[in-house]
Amino acid sequence: MPDTVRLNELPEWAALAKHRAELGGTHLRELFGTDPGRADRLTVRVGDLYLDYSKHLVTDDTLALLRDLAAARGVAALRDAMFRGEKINVTERRAVLHTALRAPRDAVIEVDGENVVPAVHAVLDKMAAFAGSVRSGAWTGATGRRIRTVVNIGIGGSDLGPAMAYEALRPYTARALDFRFVSNVDGADLHEATRDLDPAETLFIVASKTFTTIETITNATSAREWLVDGLGGDESAVAKHFVALSTNAKEVAAFGIDTQNMFEFWDWVGGRYSYDSAIGLSLMIAIGPERFREMLDGFHLVDEHFRTAPPEANAPLLLGLLGVWYGAFFDAQSHAVLPYSHYLAKFPAYLQQLDMESNGKYVDRQGEPVRWQTGPVVWGTPGTNGQHAYYQLLHQGTKTIPADLIGFARPVAELSARLAAQHDLLMANLFAQGQALAFGKTAEEVRAEGVPEEQVPHRTFPGNHPTTTILATELSPSVLGQLVALYEHKVFVQGAIWDIDSFDQWGVELGKVLAKRVEPALTEGADVAGLDTSTAELVAKYRRLRGR
Ligand code: F6P
Repeated sequence: MPDTVRLNELPEWAALAKHRAELGGTHLRELFGTDPGRADRLTVRVGDLYLDYSKHLVTDDTLALLRDLAAARGVAALRDAMFRGEKINVTERRAVLHTALRAPRDAVIEVDGENVVPAVHAVLDKMAAFAGSVRSGAWTGATGRRIRTVVNIGIGGSDLGPAMAYEALRPYTARALDFRFVSNVDGADLHEATRDLDPAETLFIVASKTFTTIETITNATSAREWLVDGLGGDESAVAKHFVALSTNAKEVAAFGIDTQNMFEFWDWVGGRYSYDSAIGLSLMIAIGPERFREMLDGFHLVDEHFRTAPPEANAPLLLGLLGVWYGAFFDAQSHAVLPYSHYLAKFPAYLQQLDMESNGKYVDRQGEPVRWQTGPVVWGTPGTNGQHAYYQLLHQGTKTIPADLIGFARPVAELSARLAAQHDLLMANLFAQGQALAFGKTAEEVRAEGVPEEQVPHRTFPGNHPTTTILATELSPSVLGQLVALYEHKVFVQGAIWDIDSFDQWGVELGKVLAKRVEPALTEGADVAGLDTSTAELVAKYRRLRGR
């Protein structure tokens, strides 16, 4: 909650700083050695997710002090205000109600005195009808042929969520349909997505909350031209090949998409919190309305957990507090997300927007510069690939990088017996990495193997690198919803503690404005005045290279 006492002036903050000094360089080997019960105790279950946070540089005292900090910052009160639909996005004066997108049909959630749940379900129903007709072939293109490829055009939250979830749930998708996601204003993206497609069998979904985002509108305009040209110049074909997902009916109509073919959402849904709104239409076509509902129910389950679980068993609260602990008292600058699942390859990129666009802020809600770390750099790729690339730095580098190791007990059902048998090796890697990062390998252990003395330091692993292991039975639609909601609320907790507005994104604006200003300078003869000298030189060089 906005507070007159700043975070770093709280007695709870001072208590944590003192505790950190006392903890000093205590090693995880010591923490486990003196407390064998921590492997069982420092775990939490939420829905189908099992979280082991025992390999963190914390004791029971640390956790109690962190919970005290959360209480002092009023995290629970701000959480309740969010769920009630209060305008906690202070700089944009908006409610923050992605939780309403997955609320059951009979829930009542009000914004400005109006229950928003009926509208949410009306859109879900409209999406389900449309998704069903594309899946069945009842929806045909302008020439009467059924749709074979769906191309989602969007960027940021209007791309990363559906693209990530489509990859994550591939085994649940209608394999007869092909799905592609275009986001980059680099014409190569749309070119590669469409070069082998037949316009008569292609459906474009233009996803944009504002419907003014230059990358999306540029790509959508080019896609419309490609379609109309490919169908012999028939402009009326657009109605059967373009639908829009947006909050902005006026701009959708101005673009030339019939608002009958628009699926709406609302300003209380942030872009990076939107893939369970109409923005998920491509995903719903891929997995079908029932699976989509299962995913929403997974989200809702974690929403309810976050809203009602006591602090000591509240998974998003715990994860959020651990991140605050490392940022503030270990100078951790980044956070790695390492899924041991091929299907979660895009999950780290999705979380980058969720976390970094939410909590990459330098002023508090009152506009005062913060005097503490805010959001970390979030990064990662599927685990085993990373092991042969950057894990060297995780094991023997000089940085504290807390990491999440995410894995599933079962391989997906459609793998052959031969490929399914590889799953144990995959998971053995996950468990081994958590072990190696935490406990390392001492110089004595290295010497005992007969390693020459000059090599001993190089082959010693300091360990003491913190990880959370997140384990579930399988990557189902519900489990994906649970995972995403877990991270959404973790990000919320951290924003509440740091007293920042996690729901605006003013930091993306300057680049957009400057790009508009620079663009005319790239063409022949255009005036480069007004550019700084470095940029003016670069623009001049670019023009020479382009022969302008
Ligand atoms: O520029 C950042 C951003 O506003 C994101 O927050 C958003 O997800 C993305 O652009 C796309 O915006 P829109 O859905 O309005 O096209």
